[in-house]
Amino acid sequence: MSWTRHHVLSLADFSTAEYDIVLQTASSFQEVLSRRTKKVPTLQGQVVANLFFESSTRTRSSFELAAKRLSADTLNFAPGTSSLTKGETILDTAKTYLAMGTDMMVIRHKEAGVPQAIAAEMDRLGVKVGVLNAGDGQHEHPSQALLDLFTICSLLDSENPRLSLLEGKKIAIVGDILHSRVARSNIWSLTASGAEVHLAAPPTLLPKWFADYVKEPNDSSNVDRKLFIHWTLDPALQNADFVMTLRLQRERMTNHLLPSLREYHQQFGVTRDRLQQCRANVKVLHPGPVNRGVEISSDLMDDPQFSLISQQVTSGVAVRMALLYLMGGGKEVGGK
Ligand code: NCD
Repeated sequence: MSWTRHHVLSLADFSTAEYDIVLQTASSFQEVLSRRTKKVPTLQGQVVANLFFESSTRTRSSFELAAKRLSADTLNFAPGTSSLTKGETILDTAKTYLAMGTDMMVIRHKEAGVPQAIAAEMDRLGVKVGVLNAGDGQHEHPSQALLDLFTICSLLDSENPRLSLLEGKKIAIVGDILHSRVARSNIWSLTASGAEVHLAAPPTLLPKWFADYVKEPNDSSNVDRKLFIHWTLDPALQNADFVMTLRLQRERMTNHLLPSLREYHQQFGVTRDRLQQCRANVKVLHPGPVNRGVEISSDLMDDPQFSLISQQVTSGVAVRMALLYLMGGGKEVGGK
């Protein structure tokens, strides 16, 4: 199979072959990033616009660096204090970037569906502009889930990271699942691999219907997705191979969903002690930004024996290079 995807908006309809293409392409860019000259001419002359309508540190810098490592010209947009809201204004902003010759748009917005709307508009206009969703509201964050996948699969086989390495593994996702686009994208990718995915959070942050999240009518993957929900932490951690912790997204909470941060940490905070019930070589991930001492204890976060957090950030550049490269029409890298 070859890469045909022009936009990357969601992982809901990603195939095994597409995951493997991203993993293998990222792996070859990881090798480029380990060289003395960390740059390739692949996207020379192309323009990548980072349209971040919502704040970001690592995702935005990571996309910018990825585009620069591929020799693209980058444009950065900051909404600042402007009165941008959903709808026509955003489309007009996108069209302005289009008129400057933008080839790819990386879009983050606090409302779900904005990258999809811009991609639809580009298609309607008949222009070959690729749109990449860098986080839309509570919906999806595909490049984050792909870099998480790459981090995990590279740990299991650095020479040949591939989706099937996760078959039969147990992965816990712990924290504010309700508000998390990272969790939603990861649920698609991790269940596609044949791993068991166990979600853990208080019921206010993990509604019952999440158990059916992967039973969407548009899921044509034929994968038997294994997703479980727990309203206590221990059943999710028992024998887990990987534990993904998530930030409490207080900016998205409209009312009092938690008693107190201290109590939340007591019940759902991931600590070294609690990891004892996981597999001996368990690893911990977090997409960042981290609230130290809330969703994860500060010492665990900095412990290289368990924490993959800085590897996630490093992997992000190679994975985003792979996505921009593939969307820009680059040939996929064959299996090794
Ligand atoms: C996440 C996001 O923005 O969705 N962060 C990220 O992109 N690395 C998660 C978060 O904000 O907690």
